[in-house]
Amino acid sequence: MKSLQRIVALAALIFSASAIADPARHEVSYNKEIAPIIHDYCLSCHEPGGQGYEKSGLDMRTYQSLMKGTKFGSVIKPGDSFTSILIQVVDGRVHASIKMPYGMEGGLAKDKISLLKKWVNQGAKNN
Ligand code: HEC
Repeated sequence: MKSLQRIVALAALIFSASAIADPARHEVSYNKEIAPIIHDYCLSCHEPGGQGYEKSGLDMRTYQSLMKGTKFGSVIKPGDSFTSILIQVVDGRVHASIKMPYGMEGGLAKDKISLLKKWVNQGAKNN
């Protein structure tokens, strides 16, 4: 009986440790992680008066306006970062001339791009 208790305790310990250590379990938060990236790297152009907004119609001030997309339609497909236009343009997968942030040397840092991808793949939640 003692040894069974030990095994159970050990299993619980391993399980909780892996839950903390496994980054795949981390749920990306729109409010805490995505909105700050948008604020720092996108918003200056993607709000009324900015060139990105004027040209494409994409207003990134709120979750709702972001999900609404450009005048041609949505740029985020929840659950699918590969076909989401927003991810394609930060990845530089569409065309160099529309790589976002527009005109930024080297583009967005890799860790920020992966965070955006993860958020989209997790359903692009308003969390
Ligand atoms: C310096 C200004 C500027 C910044 C900063 C900027 N954009 Fe843009 N964005 C533009 C312009 C201009 C367009 C219109 C491009 C075109 O249609 O030729 C655009 C268009 C877009 C589009 C629509 C592309 C399409 O195919 O219709 C997306 C999505 C986008 N931007 C995302 C972002 C994201 C995400 C960021 C931040 C990481 C960002 N932008 C930062 C200027 C900017």
